[in-house]
Amino acid sequence: MRAIFAILICLGAAPAIAETSAHGLYMLHCSGCHGRDGGGSATGRVPPFAGVVGPFARELEGRRYLVLVPGVANSGLSDKDTARVLNYVVEAWGEGAPRTGYTTVEVSTIRKARVDDIVALRRRIVGALARRGVRVSY
Ligand code: HEC
Repeated sequence: MRAIFAILICLGAAPAIAETSAHGLYMLHCSGCHGRDGGGSATGRVPPFAGVVGPFARELEGRRYLVLVPGVANSGLSDKDTARVLNYVVEAWGEGAPRTGYTTVEVSTIRKARVDDIVALRRRIVGALARRGVRVSY
C-alpha cells in the first residue's frame, strides 16, 4: 500500500520535472565529446571551448557558426533547447561575450539557411577576427 502511494506521488510530480536544465542538456548532448569541463580532447581532436567560443559569440557570423557547427546542428535538439544549451556554453566558457543570449527565433532563423562548407565559414570568420586583432585560440 505504501509503495502504491509512493508511485502515485511520483506520477503526480512528473510533469513538474519534465524540462531538462541547460546544464543537463550539455551533459547529455555535448559533454561526451567536449568534456564536463569544456576542455575537449586532444586525442579526439575536439577543441576546448575557452578562447574559442567567446570570440565567435561576439560576432554576428560567429553566432551563426556556433548554431551550424555539426555537433550542434545534428544534436537532434529543438531550436529552444539548442538556444538554451548554447547560452549555457557561452556563459560558461565565452569569457567577455555579450549577455544577449540566443533566442529560439534566432536559432530557427539561422537553421533555415543551409551552409555548404562549414570549414570555409569558420576560416572566413577566424580571418576576419584576426584582421581586427582578435585571436581564436584553436
Ligand atoms: C560526437 C562528438 C561531439 C558531440 C556530441 C558534440 N561535439 Fe561539438 N565538436 C566536436 C568536434 C570533433 C569538433 C571540432 C570539429 C568540428 O568543428 O566539427 C566540435 C566543434 C564544436 C564547436 C566549434 C569549435 C570551433 O572552434 O570551431 C562548438 C561551438 C561545439 N562543437 C559545440 C557543441 C555543443 C554545444 C554540443 C552539444 C549540443 C556539441 N558540440 C556536441 C565533437 C562533438
